[in-house]
Amino acid sequence: MAHQTILVLDFGSQYTQLIARRLRELNVYSEVLSFSTPAEEIRRKAPVGVILSGGPRSVGEPGAPRCVPELFEMGLPVLGICYGMQLMTDMLGGEVASAPHREFGHALVTVLPAANGEPLFVDVPREFRVWASHGDFVTVQPPGFSVVATSANAPIAAMEAPHRHLFALLFHPEVAHTDHGLEILRNFAFRVCGCAGDWTIESFVEEATARIRQQVGDGRVVCALSGGVDSAVAALLIHRAIGDRLTCIFVDNGVLRQGEAAQIERRFVDKLKLSVVCVDASQQFLSRLAGVTDPETKRKIIGATFIEVFEREAGARGRFAFLGQGTLYPDVIESVSVVGPAAAIKSHHNVGGLPERMPFGLVEPLRQLFKDEVREVGRQIGLDGEFVHRQPFPGPGLAVRILGAVTTERLALVRRADAIVAEEIRRAGWYRRLWQSFAVLLPVQSVGVMGDARTYENTVAIRAVESRDGMTADWARLPHELLATISSRIVNEVKGINRVVFDISTKPPSTIEWE
Ligand code: XMP
Repeated sequence: MAHQTILVLDFGSQYTQLIARRLRELNVYSEVLSFSTPAEEIRRKAPVGVILSGGPRSVGEPGAPRCVPELFEMGLPVLGICYGMQLMTDMLGGEVASAPHREFGHALVTVLPAANGEPLFVDVPREFRVWASHGDFVTVQPPGFSVVATSANAPIAAMEAPHRHLFALLFHPEVAHTDHGLEILRNFAFRVCGCAGDWTIESFVEEATARIRQQVGDGRVVCALSGGVDSAVAALLIHRAIGDRLTCIFVDNGVLRQGEAAQIERRFVDKLKLSVVCVDASQQFLSRLAGVTDPETKRKIIGATFIEVFEREAGARGRFAFLGQGTLYPDVIESVSVVGPAAAIKSHHNVGGLPERMPFGLVEPLRQLFKDEVREVGRQIGLDGEFVHRQPFPGPGLAVRILGAVTTERLALVRRADAIVAEEIRRAGWYRRLWQSFAVLLPVQSVGVMGDARTYENTVAIRAVESRDGMTADWARLPHELLATISSRIVNEVKGINRVVFDISTKPPSTIEWE
């Protein structure tokens, strides 16, 4: 069933996905497409509105990304945000200049008195705080536009040509630091584009189930279970659609966390009644990882070995026409993104790999969803809260949390330290508040003293971050007492570790995982 859709054209802003996320929070279906999407494709998607995202470039620069000019002639409501506003200005005959004072961070916006009744600012105070991040600004609005809001460093903070359904904001309504930002997006979606809010998780589950049945027909599907939420929800949706024509394969790659393999059996086989083939391939993985220190090489080895094991096990179980995968929307966007900082920084193996090697059709029921929507779907189809709120765990597992070579001894160290972190974080009631919390084994030895003896042992770093989607993250302000408990338990209980440090880096510029 087609939902009213607002398209977001991506000009490379780190906030592009957030725009789509916010719209979905408003029950409006939204998709992110490249800035260069041709006019025919935009028409084919039949959107009720289009948002032009921000971006890192200057519109005047050679090669700066531009959308097709027809976009402004389709009669569709268009909202330009930041770079989107500057581009709109440039393409429609206004002027953009580099600002004398760059605006980055908080700014105060004043809605002009005449604009009070205009659609974007209904129910928004005359003055409010916004998040801005731009070096350029609009000096002359295009013909037919009027200025509706202003700020200290930008005389034109918002402009509109309502009869042409064109609107633009210099600040970012999608960012939580902008007061009333959601209200402004709601106004655009509901008042300007005429959305009714027809995108809900219940409707998604029904439609996804029907789509899977239609796609798969009477074929069989094989699905890799990783132990994480995404592959589990994908498998359960597929199981809901086609029952036992789904076979799941769970590969123990030797770099899983403590007790993980046993948990998978209990949860999916015993409780949820999925048909799961559990394969212990740890020796094969660990022998190939021996001596490897480069993070990307570790990822590639694990990816390639996984494919080999998976092919072997699936091949031994008859013919499968389809492969089920828990690919999420951010994976899809990250792998097609063209410009700017949204370009992929690490190779994430859940998108590439398998399909190229095997003659499978792909069943990816979560391809349209963001992480928290997947959790919501999981809950809808009967997964327990504890599982649905599992923190993400990377495919290459503990291998990317051991800096340097992966050995059985080092695995045992990080595994035990990690289990202590998880236990204490849960006990203190922090688990769900955090995007991830884990231990990293550093390739560093330092001097300590235990009893009366000098030690020269390993260091563990604790990483605990808060994040909405893993794209940006802040380190969690864990209580000192909790850190103290974690630290003393690790040093006391894990022989071979005599020092614990806490990682206080944000993403960006750091990433969440250390490798
Ligand atoms: P980074 O470290 O890039 O991680 O800030 C962002 C999120 O992605 C997870 N991650 C991975 N997941 N395969 C995965 O399936 C990978 O190779 C991989 N690397 C990172 C990471 O745990 C975090 O949630």
